[in-house]
Amino acid sequence: MDQNRVQAALADLPLGAIRFFSRVSSTNDEAARWIDEGAPDLSLVVADEQTEGRGREGRVWYSLPDASLAISIILYPLEKGAYVVPRLTALGALAVKDSLYKDFGLHAQIKWPNDVLVNRRKVAGVLVEAHWIGDQLSALILGIGINIKPAAVMIFQRDESMYHFPATCVEEALDRPIERLDLLHGVMAELVRWRKRISSPEFLQSWEASLAFRGEPVQIISHRGGNELTAGSKEDPPVVNEGRILGLSTDGSLRLRQNSGEVTMVRFGEVRLRPTAAGVGDR
Ligand code: BTN
Repeated sequence: MDQNRVQAALADLPLGAIRFFSRVSSTNDEAARWIDEGAPDLSLVVADEQTEGRGREGRVWYSLPDASLAISIILYPLEKGAYVVPRLTALGALAVKDSLYKDFGLHAQIKWPNDVLVNRRKVAGVLVEAHWIGDQLSALILGIGINIKPAAVMIFQRDESMYHFPATCVEEALDRPIERLDLLHGVMAELVRWRKRISSPEFLQSWEASLAFRGEPVQIISHRGGNELTAGSKEDPPVVNEGRILGLSTDGSLRLRQNSGEVTMVRFGEVRLRPTAAGVGDR
């Protein structure tokens, strides 16, 4: 990949501008700098390698040269209320999921709130970060990391503390090599398509229909006080809910039937979901 190839591959899409880097600390950091310089809406940062990539809950996210796809998209809130973090996270996850299916025939699911799974293993993660000017929300940065080659998975497995869910990569799932630019094109095309309908009932329905572990026994660990823009303090005792996923409510909260029979809403935030069925587990 290089600037020219990325630009040529995405030329048919109505994006803002594109910046390619062979190596960055984090594409989300580059995106934040670019917003300060006046990046247009729907601008894209692509990196071949990240040295300080971030995941949710303060975790490291590895992106290796040639083996991963690390991108950040700059989005300015066009419609009041529509650009809340849960929907934007879903926008990224749906774009990856739909591209994997349409362009590669792979069935993926979304592990609420932010992971994309293939064969019940994590293939991609989404991290939305808000960019503020003073106390005004100026833009949102939608970061997406996708494991493409086995090397991308192996590096997660080397660092057990960071490896909290079984991982896979696109090439392992397909059993063949892919051209990363094809997937990048597919993801960006789906993102542009879904963004126009981000507030629609159809968006929510599609997100809900994509949920992994629906109807299965799950455990959800959340930190009190967290919301979609501010994480709950790590000092707060975690709240553990066990039950079965029913679906989503309109704000992107997860509807869970607890083992007691009570239906509860789990808010988006510092939340970790894991199936409790034997054989698949969080780590
Ligand atoms: C997660 O699963 O915890 C989210 C991972 C998000 C990783 C992507 S890679 C591109 C962008 N830049 C980052 O530093 N993180 C996101």
